[in-house]
Amino acid sequence: MIKIAPSILSADFARLGQEIKAIEDAGADYVHVDVMDGHFVPNITLGAPVVKSLRACTRLPFDVHLMIDNPDQYIPDFAEAGADLITVHQEAGAHLHRTIQLIRSLGCKAGVSINPATPVSTLDVILEDLDLVLVMSVNPGFGGQGFIPSSLAKIAALRHEIDRRGLQVELEVDGGVKPDNIAEIAAAGADVFVAGSAVFNSEDYHATVQALRTRAEA
Ligand code: DX5
Ligand code: ZN
Repeated sequence: MIKIAPSILSADFARLGQEIKAIEDAGADYVHVDVMDGHFVPNITLGAPVVKSLRACTRLPFDVHLMIDNPDQYIPDFAEAGADLITVHQEAGAHLHRTIQLIRSLGCKAGVSINPATPVSTLDVILEDLDLVLVMSVNPGFGGQGFIPSSLAKIAALRHEIDRRGLQVELEVDGGVKPDNIAEIAAAGADVFVAGSAVFNSEDYHATVQALRTRAEA
């Protein structure tokens, strides 16, 4: 079962509630929320109060991607705001195990993301404690960048390891996912696909979500 997670980073921020309703109607599986702090990445987006305001707009799970330093300080706010799944970066702190336990103690699913230059081996020990692994296929910070081809080998290696250990961990890919490359990324083993500009810059969200799903499942 593959999942499509439109990233609201490319949505119209003046109409976020309607944009989220529109992707739900389009058949999306998750709402991917990109949180950036201007430190971990060179851009600033939104915080927990915005997530809280949006919670009533949809029944879809909120997949909150924290591209922030010191995530432990803000995780309780996002959990309280209605995040279903909280993903932190492997590179963002020295105490990843503690961070994962914190997320789970608040009743949320826990994910870890790795940047394009971070090897898959950094997740070796923590893999069994995760609900989701997120492979960044662009350098985080901005929508609309091109897919970095070396991400495919990382996805394949993680798929191999998840299956070898018999884990139920979701394998998500984020950055540069389009209808014309999603089949190749799915073949490498990803099962959750973030798509920002591909969905929100398209004329027909429903047609785009369906095209992504059909090509990923092919
Ligand atoms: C990048 C974000 C992504 C981004 C994806 O830092 O984490 O979620 O919005 O956008 P596209 O799909 O346009 O590459
Ligand atoms: Zn993201």
